Amino acid sequence: MQHLLTLSLRALGLAQAAIATPSAPVLPRASGSLDSWLAAESPYALQGVLDNIGADGAEVSGAKSGIVVASPSKSDPDYFYTWTRDAALTIKCLVDLFISGENSTDLQSQIQNYISAQAYLQTVSNPSGDLSTGAGLGEPKFNVDETAFTGSWGRPQRDGPALRATAMIAYAKWLIANGQASTADSIIWPIIQNDLSYVTQYWNSSGFDLWEEIQGSSFFTTAVQHRALVEGNALAQQLGHSCPNCVSQAPQILCFLQSYWTGSYVLANFGGGRSGKDANTLLGSIHTFDPDAGCDDATFQPCSARALANHKVVTDSFRSVYDVNSGIGVGEAVAVGRYPEDVYQGGNPWYLCTFAAAEQLYDALYQWDKAGEITITDVSLGFFQDVYPSAAVGTYESSSTTYEDIVAAVKAYADGYMSVAQKYTPSTLSLAEQFSRSDGSPLSAADLTWSYAALLTASARRNAIVPASWDSSSSGNNNIPSVCSATSATGPYSTATNTVWPGTPTTSTSTSSSCTSTPTAVAVTFNERVTTTYGETVYVVGSIPALGSWNPDDAVALSADKYTSDDPLWYGTVSLPAGVSVEYKYIKKESDGGVVWEGDPNREYSVPEGCGVTTGLVSDWWR
Ligand code: NOJ
Ligand code: NOJ
Repeated sequence: MQHLLTLSLRALGLAQAAIATPSAPVLPRASGSLDSWLAAESPYALQGVLDNIGADGAEVSGAKSGIVVASPSKSDPDYFYTWTRDAALTIKCLVDLFISGENSTDLQSQIQNYISAQAYLQTVSNPSGDLSTGAGLGEPKFNVDETAFTGSWGRPQRDGPALRATAMIAYAKWLIANGQASTADSIIWPIIQNDLSYVTQYWNSSGFDLWEEIQGSSFFTTAVQHRALVEGNALAQQLGHSCPNCVSQAPQILCFLQSYWTGSYVLANFGGGRSGKDANTLLGSIHTFDPDAGCDDATFQPCSARALANHKVVTDSFRSVYDVNSGIGVGEAVAVGRYPEDVYQGGNPWYLCTFAAAEQLYDALYQWDKAGEITITDVSLGFFQDVYPSAAVGTYESSSTTYEDIVAAVKAYADGYMSVAQKYTPSTLSLAEQFSRSDGSPLSAADLTWSYAALLTASARRNAIVPASWDSSSSGNNNIPSVCSATSATGPYSTATNTVWPGTPTTSTSTSSSCTSTPTAVAVTFNERVTTTYGETVYVVGSIPALGSWNPDDAVALSADKYTSDDPLWYGTVSLPAGVSVEYKYIKKESDGGVVWEGDPNREYSVPEGCGVTTGLVSDWWR
C-alpha cells in the first residue's frame, strides 16, 4: 500500500499529525477534520480489504482466489484464516460499493471470486460436519488454502451461512436487474439455497455467538438469519424458484427474535451469564437495516425505539470501563468494545464496534429523513434526552425546529463515534482490531479486514448511501406470529457445480486473459407462472420478429410439461438477438381459439450481451 500511503499522508498533512501529549501512543495519530480523515481513510480501507483477499492480495500470499483473510496477522493473534462471517460482511460491503458505482471491474471480479470460493468451501468436510446434512456449513473458519481447520474452536457458528446468503443475494439481485438473471440462477442460486436450507434447519439449535465464546442463542445470529430467509424467498421467486422452508421458518425466527427484548435493551445472548449488553446488538441492527422500512420495533430497525434505547444502554456500558472514556459525559461519543466484561486480548475497545455505534445513528437519520418525522416514545426517551436534553415524548414533523435540532444533535453524536475512532487511528491509517483502553494505541490483529469494511459501511451511511431494501416490512414480512413455535425444516442441499462466470475463460484461472467471443444470439428462457385450466395454452409474444411482432398467431408456445398445482410453470426458450431491448407479454389461448392478454403495461427485457454470454432467463407471474 506504499503508493496510497504516501498520498494519504500528504493529504492529511503529516506535520500536524504528531501531537505530543503525556499519554500519546508511540505512533502519531490521524489528525484533521473528520471529513478530511475519511477522505483519506476510505480509499486506504478499501485497499486494505483488497490486500487481504487471495489470490493476489498483497498481504495474504498463499490464500486461494476469493478467500477473504481476516487479517495478515499470523501470531498473537493468528488470524490468517478465512472466517465465514468476516468474509461475508466484507463482501456485502464490496457488493454495495460496487452497486453504488465504485471501481466496478475490480470489485466485481473479487465478488465473483468470493462466490466461486464459497461454492467449493461449502463442500469441504470439517469438524462441524459436511454438506449432506448441511451441518458443515456452520463451520466458522477455514484455512486460507481452502482446507478444513481441524483445531478446537467455538463451533458451530450459525450466523455464517445467513450472512453469506445475504452477501450473495445482494449481488444476485444486481445481476437480475442488469439482464443477467441466468448467471444469478445458474451460478449463485445453488450456493444460496444451501445456506438458506441451513438456516431453516438449524436456526433453533444453539451455537456459538459471533464473538466465538458463548454457546447459546444470540441476537445477532437470529436477526441475520431472519433477514436471509426473507430476502432469500424473494430472490427465489424472482428467479422462478420457491423456498417453502423460508416461508415457513422466517416468521418463527422473527417470533423468537422478539424474546431478546428485555423491555429496556436488547439481550445479546441466551446463555453465557453476562449482562447481555453487547455490541452484538448494534451490529444486528445495522446489518438488518432496511432503508425502505420505518422505525420498526419488530425487526429492531436502527431508528426503532428499541434499537435506540439499546444504543444508549450498550454504549453507556463502556463509559466507566475504559480509561480512554473517562471524563466523557452521556450523550457524547465514547470508545466502544464488544461487551464490557470482555478480556480477550486485553478487552479493549474495537474499531468495528465504535463504527457500528456511529452507523446505527446514520441509518436512523436516513430513516427519519425518509419518514419526514421523528417519534419519541417512553422507550426511546432516554436516548434522545442524552443528546437533546429537552426531548419529550411525541412526534416531530420535519418542518419543526425540534426535528431539526434533534437531527443535528444525533448527527453530531454519530460523527463523534467516528471521531473517536479517528483519534485512535495512527497516521499510517491502518486499522487493527482493537485500540488500547488506557491510551488508545492500536492492539491485537493488525489490518483487520472487518475493521476496514466497518469503516467503509459507516462512511457510506454517513453520506446517505444505503444498501438495497430486503423487504423487511412488505408482504407481511414483519408480522409476528401470535404464538412462537420451535420449528425446523430439512434441506435441500446440493453441490453447486457451476462456477464459470460469463466472460471467464473456461480453461484458465487467470482473470487477465481476454475473452474472444461475444455471441450475437442469446437463448432466452421464459418462465411464466400462471394457473391454467384444461385446454388453455400459454404463449409469449412481443415487439420483435423472434417474439411474433405482437401477432398472437406468431407467438411462441410455452410448454407445460413441468406444470404442477404447486408450481404452475409454463416455459420455453427462444433465440433472441444479443443486446436488444424487447417488450413482451404473455397470452393465453383458449380451446375455442380466443386470446386472453395479460394486463398492462407491456413487460420489458434487455437481452444480455457480453463475452461468453449465451443464455438469458426471464421469470414472471401472470398479471
Ligand atoms: C478466539 C476468538 O476469535 C475470540 O473471539 C475469543 O474471544 C477468543 N478466542 C477467546 O475465547
Ligand atoms: C474474533 C472475533 O470475535 C470474531 O467475531 C471474528 O470472526 C474473528 N476474531 C476473526 O476476525
